[in-house]
Amino acid sequence: MKTRNKLLLLACATFSIMSLVKSQNQQGFISLHCGLPSNESYIEPSTNLTYISDVNFIRGGKTGNIQNNSRTNFIFKPLKILRYFPDGIRNCYSLSVKQGTKYLIRTVFSYGNYDGLNISPRFDLFLGPNIWTSVDVLKAGVGDGVVEEIIHVAMSNILDICLVKTGTSTPMISAIELRPLRYDTYTARTGSLKLIAHLYFTNSDEAIRYPEDVYDRVWIPYSQPEWTQINTTRNVSGFSDGYNPPQGVIKTASIPTNVSEPLTFTWNLESSDDESYAYLYFAEIQQLKVNETREFKILANGVDYIPYIPLKFEAKTLSNPAPLKCEGGVCRVQLLKTPKSNLPPLMNAIEIFSVIQFPQSETNTDDVIAIKNIQSTYQLSRISWQGDPCVPKQFSWIGVSCNVIDISTPSRIIALDLSSSGLTGVIPPSLQNLTLLRELDLSNNNLTGEVPEFLANIKSLLVIHLRGNNLRGSVPQAFQDRERNDGLKLFVDPNIKRHGQHQPKSRLVAIVASISCVTVTIIVLVLVFIFRRRKSSTRKGKRGGSVLNWSTRLKIAIESTLGL
Ligand SMILES: *[C@@H]1O[C@H](CO)[C@@H](O)[C@H](O)[C@H]1NC(C)=O
Ligand SMILES: *[C@@H]1O[C@H](CO)[C@@H](O)[C@H](O)[C@H]1NC(C)=O
Ligand SMILES: *[C@@H]1O[C@H](CO)[C@@H](O)[C@H](O)[C@H]1NC(C)=O
Ligand SMILES: *[C@@H]1O[C@H](CO)[C@@H](O)[C@H](O)[C@H]1NC(C)=O
Ligand SMILES: *[C@@H]1O[C@H](CO)[C@@H](O)[C@H](O)[C@H]1NC(C)=O
Ligand SMILES: *[C@@H]1O[C@H](CO)[C@@H](O)[C@H](O)[C@H]1NC(C)=O
Ligand SMILES: *[C@@H]1O[C@H](CO)[C@@H](O)[C@H](O)[C@H]1NC(C)=O
Ligand SMILES: *[C@@H]1O[C@H](CO)[C@@H](O)[C@H](O)[C@H]1NC(C)=O
Ligand SMILES: *[C@@H]1O[C@H](CO)[C@@H](O)[C@H](O)[C@H]1NC(C)=O
Repeated sequence: MKTRNKLLLLACATFSIMSLVKSQNQQGFISLHCGLPSNESYIEPSTNLTYISDVNFIRGGKTGNIQNNSRTNFIFKPLKILRYFPDGIRNCYSLSVKQGTKYLIRTVFSYGNYDGLNISPRFDLFLGPNIWTSVDVLKAGVGDGVVEEIIHVAMSNILDICLVKTGTSTPMISAIELRPLRYDTYTARTGSLKLIAHLYFTNSDEAIRYPEDVYDRVWIPYSQPEWTQINTTRNVSGFSDGYNPPQGVIKTASIPTNVSEPLTFTWNLESSDDESYAYLYFAEIQQLKVNETREFKILANGVDYIPYIPLKFEAKTLSNPAPLKCEGGVCRVQLLKTPKSNLPPLMNAIEIFSVIQFPQSETNTDDVIAIKNIQSTYQLSRISWQGDPCVPKQFSWIGVSCNVIDISTPSRIIALDLSSSGLTGVIPPSLQNLTLLRELDLSNNNLTGEVPEFLANIKSLLVIHLRGNNLRGSVPQAFQDRERNDGLKLFVDPNIKRHGQHQPKSRLVAIVASISCVTVTIIVLVLVFIFRRRKSSTRKGKRGGSVLNWSTRLKIAIESTLGL
């Protein structure tokens, strides 16, 4: 088992030539080569899969080059490149996946003393908000790096893979590979599956992967001294269960050399509390004579399964329905010949996994999409704005506040502080999709346009700071209603008129003012006339009826002034 990582790495990394050929069907495959320049991609010659640069999936990091030495000289040139992360605590790849799809997710870390320090990089690897594993790149001590692989169902359409600095060493990564699997395969009762190994039993020393393996599992050759390997040239059928082992994997098998001995396979778990799943691949690949029977019992850590007869030239995958609990962390599968069997037990291949739990829910998807829209609208390059915005709490985005209730409830964004962040442009509509937002601070930026009415439609919003921007226009009526009805507080620069209150009021004022103006004029006129009249009447004497005449004229004057 020790050679697993080395072999995996070799399988993932050993090439001598690069041929430019059309890529084969690789639907849904994501193959990123980390550190590759943005305009570059290549067809990896052992698989014919196209690997592309990671630059569109990550914001930070720098390109490192593996040093030339005897151990790395054979490596295919693009693999001499990796990405390392000197800045920030958490750096995340954000991959576009299909929610509910089961994926094989593989990350490759090949160190190659790229930094000249010759010290194994150590850091944590996260899947979204949950820890996946602690990586110690050279810990295995057998090769130049390590491969981490899980089988996991995507919880949303975004999959974040994050590298988290834990000490003094700089996180680094070489490749990320995602391969969709059939949903009804590799089913754990709870949690996801962390790969220990895909092994096929053979004398050969060749690893098998895509295109022979449609899911690009990397099958490592394996044998034990007390086993004998057998093989066939006949094709093996039977792939209806979805596990689809490659012909190269299922056409070879091991039997115990001593026919009366059981076939025993053991593996170690990282922790004695871990649980495990094993997928056993069987196909009868010997032409049996009429008097020959091969039947065996399968024992897994004391659990006794029903006797099994391998199907003739037909593949079948068996696994434990309940997770194996292995005392002391040592798991054992044993195949024991039954009394009626006159042939030894046989096994073609085995895959072993431990159960890994990812209990922390991702933040509400609508909130994540909205905040990422806002981020891209404003091209915010804050180093903390990567991965899940809310959880885990110690990595939550600076300026984003969330209500984190418990691990099984998706967190929600409740406050957003983007004050003094150099924002330009208009206030983005994506904000309205943060439907539980209580407080929004966009003050002291260079935002333009009007105060958008949609902000008033976020029912939970209680405080909005917009001062210190270049906004214009007036405050829509909806805000005034919210201010009056549920105490919304909106802070805007004084140039923004309270549209909701002012205009009708000021219109009234204008009318009142013009009326007063007219009235004053009229009064003045009246006074002038009265004064003159009095004067003239005192001069000319008493002339009744003329006052009435004047009031008629006044009425006409008022009516024409008001446009009646
Ligand atoms: C990628 O871009 C760099 C710099 O712009 C250029 O030197 C290089 O030739 C380009 N490579 C390819 C494969 O286009
Ligand atoms: C890659 O494709 C070329 C051309 O189609 C083919 O000759 C070659 O065998 C393929 N390699 C693998 C590993 O499938
Ligand atoms: C690295 O090794 C390869 C193969 O031996 C050689 O072609 C290449 O020039 C070397 N590069 C450097 C920078 O030494
Ligand atoms: C099949 O078995 C024969 C005889 O033991 C051996 O020479 C050959 O290498 C085996 N082939 C494979 C692919 O394991
Ligand atoms: C095995 O299957 C392949 C592909 O279907 C076919 O080309 C080959 O002839 C088959 N071999 C035998 C021995 O039947
Ligand atoms: C085969 O195994 C049996 C039972 O363990 C043992 O008695 C016998 O000596 C073994 N034979 C050889 C050749 O090792
Ligand atoms: C089966 O019968 C053949 C003769 O047809 C004989 O050589 C062989 O030993 C028998 N095998 C077993 C396991 O009894
Ligand atoms: C808000 O979310 C809905 C549903 O997810 C989406 O259809 C809509 O485009 C989003 N609106 C904005 C402005 O982002
Ligand atoms: C704000 O935007 C205006 C118009 O685009 C520009 O003239 C001004 O320099 C900007 N101010 C700041 C602080 O960015």
